[in-house]
Amino acid sequence: MTLHLECLDCDAGMRTLPDESIDHIFTDPPYIKAQYLQAYTTLANHAARLLRPSGFLYVYCPQYRLDEIFPMLMASGLRYYWIVSQLNLSETGMVYVRNAICLHKPILIFQKPPMKKCPLPFTDVIRGNKQKAYHIWQQDINDVLGLLCRFAVPGETVLDPFTGSGTTLLAAKLLGLNAIGFESNPDTFQVAQQRLQQEPLNLFDYAIDATGKSHEGISSRGYRPPSSTPPHLRVGTDECDRSTHRSRTEAP
Ligand SMILES: C[S@@+](CC[C@H](N)C(=O)[O-])C[C@H]1O[C@@H](n2cnc3c(N)ncnc32)[C@H](O)[C@@H]1O
Repeated sequence: MTLHLECLDCDAGMRTLPDESIDHIFTDPPYIKAQYLQAYTTLANHAARLLRPSGFLYVYCPQYRLDEIFPMLMASGLRYYWIVSQLNLSETGMVYVRNAICLHKPILIFQKPPMKKCPLPFTDVIRGNKQKAYHIWQQDINDVLGLLCRFAVPGETVLDPFTGSGTTLLAAKLLGLNAIGFESNPDTFQVAQQRLQQEPLNLFDYAIDATGKSHEGISSRGYRPPSSTPPHLRVGTDECDRSTHRSRTEAP
């Protein structure tokens, strides 16, 4: 398992990566007006080249920019796969220009042809708990874990070109996947670096979806240190005693 994080503009970083060297791009570009258009354009320009055939792109997307971002991704050569809704029940976002009380955020999933279904069934509404200990824009690590443990298989490589505090890379590390990240802000880069060096988290409840239901026994398994076999592929072989498991914590 390899983990590579650089303090670098994502365009420069992605140019250094060989064609078809990435299995999954899981990312959360900046939404702020001055940066978002460039960010999604850069992503769209590189994603199809970098992904292996049937590789996946998962990208958080603000509702009010969907009309611009969707066609950009369609034009990149990738194909639409699905939309996952991340619920934001702890934080009500009022979008005044539409009078919309926004309680969810789309995560768009695209795939490089040929289209192939992901290895395990996934749920398309996820909880999105508020986790901001490391970064104001930090995403819930359970979003990433819950999707990657169903879409990724051992030995694959995950890229996050807008790493932020390192949520995607940490999730990949927990699942025993290879990970590459680029982050242009030196302070945020340092936060991500430190976070990635911390002790692994407890994985036991990552697969609980927005309905509160756990899946396939994945959530009832305790954390095992990453090995060549990610935890989701060991399901069914472990003893399960939920009462002995500690709560998931993400202390710095
Ligand atoms: C929305 S945040 C990502 C947050 C991340 N998902 C997390 O959980 O911490 C977007 C990140 O992209 C970084 N960024 C913006 N433009 C960039 C660029 N051109 N190259 C690399 N990183 C960039 C920002 O500094 C910010 O940390």
